Amino acid sequence: MAGVDTLEFRNLRSVEEVQAARVFEEGGYTSDEGASLESMRYRFDHAAHLFLGAFDQKGALVGYVMSTQADAPLVTHRSMEEHDPRGSTVCIHSVCVNPLWQRKGVASRLLEAYTSSICKYNSSLDPSGYKIKRLALLSRENLIPLYERAGYTTLGKSSVVHGTETWYDCIMDL
Ligand SMILES: CC(C)(COP(=O)(O)OP(=O)(O)OC[C@H]1O[C@@H](n2cnc3c(N)ncnc32)[C@H](O)[C@@H]1OP(=O)(O)O)[C@@H](O)C(=O)NCCC(=O)NCCS
Repeated sequence: MAGVDTLEFRNLRSVEEVQAARVFEEGGYTSDEGASLESMRYRFDHAAHLFLGAFDQKGALVGYVMSTQADAPLVTHRSMEEHDPRGSTVCIHSVCVNPLWQRKGVASRLLEAYTSSICKYNSSLDPSGYKIKRLALLSRENLIPLYERAGYTTLGKSSVVHGTETWYDCIMDL
């Protein structure tokens, strides 16, 4: 298998790519944590600039980060259901990698590419545009080091109840 250096990082472009992401979403999250295809389609339709994929040399999806914007400082249930284009916080709902590619550094590279892509998005806005000021996500306890190495700060246990896991609020201010 080719290495992480051969991957291309770009926004998803088609419904077929969203369907490929859904397959990994279903495997990576329990049924009460993961997003439905309908919810992923909504996020793609309304916030494609926040749906970043890693693709192999054949163009197959290897992993992705999927989010919405919200007018709230942390990830909320509401942000899982709707995208507020004026929201200054990007609420990251999924960071997911094909099991065949895990523990090779894909998620780390995706998170790095994600921050760059949001900064690029901000610079593309005209001065009156709604800039993104913060990235926020809910981390599983064992993955806190992954996010802290990517530049996130852990604030503590989240008040959000989502499935049976205890979640931790992690943020990065831009
Ligand atoms: C979590 C996930 C995205 C990690 O993807 P990945 O490409 O394997 O991550 P990386 O290779 O970049 O990992 C970098 C470091 O993060 C940590 N890490 C990654 N996966 C981990 C795991 N399952 N448990 C504990 N630490 C982990 C390790 O420190 C790892 O470094 P190492 O491999 O040298 O030990 C992937 O396991 C996944 O898709 N899981 C299912 C969905 C999910 O739980 N997403 C996160 C929700 S918070």
